[in-house]
Formats: sequence, C-alpha cells, structure tokens
Amino acid sequence: MRLSEFRSHFQKTLLEIYSKEEADSIFKRLIDFYFEWDASFPIINPNYLLDFNASEKLKFALSELRKEKPLQYITHQATFFGIDFFVNQSVLIPRPETEDLVNWVLEDICKNKIISPQLMDIGTGSGCIAVSLANANKQINVTAIDLSEEALRVAKKNAKKHRVKIDFIKHDIQSLFHWKNPLDIIVSNPPYVHPNEKKEISPNVLNYEPHMAIFTPENDPVYYYRLIINFASAVLKSGGSLYLEINPKYLKLLKSNFSDDTFGEIEVRNDIFGKSRMLKVIKK
Ligand SMILES: C[S@@+](CC[C@H](N)C(=O)[O-])C[C@H]1O[C@@H](n2cnc3c(N)ncnc32)[C@H](O)[C@@H]1O
Repeated sequence: MRLSEFRSHFQKTLLEIYSKEEADSIFKRLIDFYFEWDASFPIINPNYLLDFNASEKLKFALSELRKEKPLQYITHQATFFGIDFFVNQSVLIPRPETEDLVNWVLEDICKNKIISPQLMDIGTGSGCIAVSLANANKQINVTAIDLSEEALRVAKKNAKKHRVKIDFIKHDIQSLFHWKNPLDIIVSNPPYVHPNEKKEISPNVLNYEPHMAIFTPENDPVYYYRLIINFASAVLKSGGSLYLEINPKYLKLLKSNFSDDTFGEIEVRNDIFGKSRMLKVIKK
C-alpha cells in the first residue's frame, strides 16, 4: 500500500475518536517512532510503497488506537520534561501539568541555594518526577516510593535509561514509614480523582491507565494528601518544602488539612487552563 493511501485510511478509521488533525498528528508520531521519518516525509513521498513489515506495524497500531488505547502505551514511550520515558499500563502516562511541578522544585532549589537536598517523590509511577529532577540537577539525593512493584520496575528502567541514581523503595503510604533521614523536599502527584468524576474521564484514560494511580477512596477525596501531609509533618526538616499536584475541586478541603502550627502559608499555582493545579507549603 502507498503511504498516502494508508494515511487517509488511518485518518478515516480514527474519525470517531479523533479529529482529522489529531489523527494525522498521531500518524506522524507513529512514522517517526517506527521509521524515523519526519513530518515532511509523507508530504514529499506520498507514493512511497510500504513494505510488509512497515504495513503490519502501522496496521497493528491502528487497531490498538481504534480501541482507544493511548499512543504512549502502543509505542511504550512518553516525553516528559524534554526526555523520553518508557511507559506501560502499570504506570500513569506522565502529564504536561506535572512538568510545572518539577520546574517549581528546581527553581526553588536554585533560588534558595539548597546544597545536595534530600528529596522524596511519593507515588513515583513511571519515575517521571524523580528522574527528571535527578537528571536536571545531579546534586539532588532522590528517593522515590510507590506501592506498585510493576511501577517501580518501570521507574527503575527509566532511571537506568537516563543514568541517574535514585533510591527506589516499595512502600504503601497507608502504613507507617519509619524514615530516619530528615528531608528537605517532598514532592508528590498522588491519586486525586474522586470516583464521582469517572463520567468526566475519557475512555482512553479510564480503560487503560491504572486505577490505583488515579482514584481516591469514595469516602475521602483528599485521603492520599492527608497521609502525605502527616508524613511531611514528621520527616520534613524545619524550612523544608512540600510540593503537591492537586485536584482543583478539593483545594479548600485539602487546605483545611494543613495545621497552622506545623506549616506556613500555602502557595497555589495554576495550570495552563487557569485551574489551581499545584501547591507548595513550607514546614515551620
Ligand atoms: C497519579 S500517579 C503519579 C505517577 C507519577 N508520579 C506521575 O506524576 O506521573 C500516583 C502514583 O501513586 C501510586 N500509589 C497509589 N497508592 C499508593 C500507596 N498507597 N502508596 C504508595 N504509592 C501509591 C500509584 O501506584 C501511582 O504510581
């Protein structure tokens, strides 16, 4: 089959799920991923004849996309903070808004001249936060924890890929954590979607991404935050900072969980859509 024929077949097949432009953008990312052809290749070479192997790869990807599987789980690759991460269905696909959280941490370390900070990433998933921080600033001593063994396998793979040293620990933040080394920084993007919000979530997220990475318990939308705040109260150094990605819907409830005796003023930042998406608080 000619490349131009497959390209229009690809767009038509995905029309129910993606706009023509989105489908074409996915097509271009796929041909870049599989064959290292840039976006101009199909324009310059519309009559290029796809060989059997190339057609099979593209057909397989198309059949998966049609089932609303996210592209990143097909290529096993996601870009975050300018670097590539291996991903599979045991980890959340890193989101662009989380990059702002990473940026905030890095800016503050630099601005406050924190030397060799001790940092913990709670609920590391693919390791996108931990690996990006360690990669951007080699002075940071990073520990990353997750309950999921499969997620930790992925995070370790990503740390190896980017040659950064991170201490990975399998731990459930619901159980007591006797952490002896006081921390300068805790960062976390915990599960923060309430099950009531399921109807607002698209099938490509709901059917493919790990629910344990997304959802809070039914009866407590700030459950994981509370655990992290308690932990931070115990192990952050005085003057240490806690950075959290947050659900804008529960900001008020979340804020009420910080004791004024332990924490200073809460600073909130918005995402590109103008929604409160992350906060920082300093331990007194
Ligand atoms: C929203 S994902 C964040 C993943 C990654 N940090 C990111 O920003 O893309 C939340 C992570 O918390 C982990 N998690 C869920 N419950 C946990 C628990 N009780 N203890 C430790 N980690 C947990 C999940 O496995 C998941 O990797």
